Amino acid sequence: MSKVVTLRQIGAIGVIEIQNPPVNALGHAVREGLMDAVSAADDNLEISAIIITGAGRTFPAGADISEFGGQMLEPPLPAVINRIESCQKPVVAAIHGTALGGGFEIALGCHYRVADANAKVGLPEIHIGVFPGAGGTVRLPRLAGLAVTFDMMISGKPIKAGKAESLGVLDAVFDADLLDNALAFTRALIDDQAIVRPTSRMTQGIADTAANEAAIAAAKAALTRLPKRLMAHDAILRCVTHNISATLEDALAFERENFVQCMTGDESQGLVHAFFADRLSAKVPEAGRAKPRSLANIAVVGGGTMGTGITCAALDAGIPVTMVERDADALARGRTNVEKVYARHVEKGRLTDAERDEVLARYQGTTEFADIAEVDMVIEAVFERMDVKKDVFKQLDQHVRQGAVLASNTSYLDIDDIANATSRPSDVIGLHFFSPANVMKLLEIVIPSQPHDDAVATGFQLAKQLRKMPVRAGNCDGFIGNRVLGVYAAAAMHMVEDGASPYDIDRVITEFGYPMGPFSMFDLAGGDIGWETRKRKEPTRPPEERYVHIADRLCENGWFGQKTGRGWYRYEPGARRGQPDPEVLAIIDAERQRQGVQARLFSDDDIRTRYLCAMVNEGANCVLDGTALRPSDVDITKLYGYGFPRWRGGPMKWADMQGLDKILAAIEHYAQDDAHFWKPSPLLVDLVAKGNTFASLNK
Ligand code: NAI
Repeated sequence: MSKVVTLRQIGAIGVIEIQNPPVNALGHAVREGLMDAVSAADDNLEISAIIITGAGRTFPAGADISEFGGQMLEPPLPAVINRIESCQKPVVAAIHGTALGGGFEIALGCHYRVADANAKVGLPEIHIGVFPGAGGTVRLPRLAGLAVTFDMMISGKPIKAGKAESLGVLDAVFDADLLDNALAFTRALIDDQAIVRPTSRMTQGIADTAANEAAIAAAKAALTRLPKRLMAHDAILRCVTHNISATLEDALAFERENFVQCMTGDESQGLVHAFFADRLSAKVPEAGRAKPRSLANIAVVGGGTMGTGITCAALDAGIPVTMVERDADALARGRTNVEKVYARHVEKGRLTDAERDEVLARYQGTTEFADIAEVDMVIEAVFERMDVKKDVFKQLDQHVRQGAVLASNTSYLDIDDIANATSRPSDVIGLHFFSPANVMKLLEIVIPSQPHDDAVATGFQLAKQLRKMPVRAGNCDGFIGNRVLGVYAAAAMHMVEDGASPYDIDRVITEFGYPMGPFSMFDLAGGDIGWETRKRKEPTRPPEERYVHIADRLCENGWFGQKTGRGWYRYEPGARRGQPDPEVLAIIDAERQRQGVQARLFSDDDIRTRYLCAMVNEGANCVLDGTALRPSDVDITKLYGYGFPRWRGGPMKWADMQGLDKILAAIEHYAQDDAHFWKPSPLLVDLVAKGNTFASLNK
């Protein structure tokens, strides 16, 4: 018998336990072990019924997705589950932890299902661009009906044991002692001479034709409302609809065929890449070498847009926050900003009054740095000016205890310069949040020259506590995210000056899968921020660099975007969506004439390729100079901070899927017109020469 799956006998019951820590993933050894154990138990005349359960913290929580894309070794999961279902004696799944994906499909293949009250069951496959492919589309509808099936498969959200019981998915739920209770439940089955009950032969969930049709109609409508309709969503609809009237054999074959199509499709490849990239981003050398420092409380300096968001993110995570502002008026504004966030939660029914009060009890405000002397970490979010930042860090150095981590939320400024304003630069790091900071998932953790490892590890620990996606970024102008943005934003500006309309660029980029295009994004962020940065950089701008003045012309008119009602678009009062503005087009035209540019046509394909190639090329430069540890960290940055469509995996994954030789050829072609801007990254050139991919560097 295999070590990962054991069979022991307790009275007349055979207990099969899966032991594949940490989550009992259904890799090859588990599938093989299960097949053997189930057959052994079924053949053993002393055994009258079987229990399948997981050791450690959970029932199997899904497939082993590292096997994805490679050759799947025998036996495949559908065959294992069919074997379980065909047992001659009752099989009971005893579920604790999270029975997800293939794990839940195993439970569906059992004849009965019992669970611990804290357990959850779910079918999250859609998050990696596939759907239940081991009989789930056959069995769940028969057990619990089509509405439950569509809901679980389309949302991918797990449900709690109690709810699953009320939906008919589970037969019993126990508050404690799962195995004892499962044994008692199974003994009762034996005593009652209960028969085997193959889920695939049930009809209870699919007998009501009108209910089936209503569920199918509702699912179709739900798919049209999705922000992104994946091919797996349509496969769910197709399979469930087909399978309710098909034979088991035909239904399983149909499911498999659709499953393989999804699994080998681009969407799933992008989503699986993103799944692994998520897990890789917190693996950084500093966190491997040192333990994080204590993080019992923090201070946030500045109560503006970012200070407020960071404060709320920390309060939400249960961390007490002291906000420091420059004077009583500014502090009152900061407090009001925070209170407004929670008032909205209450208004929307996300929090009760009592819960809001509990969160706000963790908040304190002060105008005195002396009041934050004892905190574990300070996050500065004051104006984006070096003199102001240095002044704040000098004060922090004077007042805050030794050993505290001092962090800056600067978007662009040199963290070393800021750190050197203190007597303890090794305790200073960058923590670059994104707006709104209590919502946006990305946290760039910026590493200056010589930080203490444990200061960096504390940054990663903070990300974990705030449930942010951390990315390690080197200290350079704009770090990973804004540095790469600067380049593709410039590519977009060049296209506008050369003849493309900003509205066409936004349309093409939205069609690519972004929630909004760059010009809508500039309007949302506020044009003044970029204008300040351009002015700051002007003295050091190389003369050969192409500079497009159009954005400056808009800013000179006071058109900063949504907040001023005009930017690249015109906004009706209170509107978030803008209308194209003929006056903006006239300004663009005037600039073209002033520069002597003959406007030319850009195809959608040309717009998309230039935009993305600029992003990929600078992403490669970030990896080359160590600003990003690996290409997948560039992907994470763009996915979580800049709206890159997750199902495309990120820009570097997108480039791999296009073929890096094609990306390089496009860049070399553009370089014929502007060799200064379109310099192929040496990393890209090298990978193409070696026939390699960015993925080969994702370690
Ligand atoms: P903001 O102007 O909304 O807020 C800055 C706050 O800092 C103001 O409330 C001001 O009273 C306070 N402040 C200024 N000097 C201070 C001092 N000496 N002591 C205490 N408080 C002081 O600015 P925002 O947008 O919140 O930006 C703050 C920082 O975050 C900047 O470095 C910015 O580059 C960065 N950032 C901004 C993002 C955004 O989307 N707004 C995104 C990511 C980073």
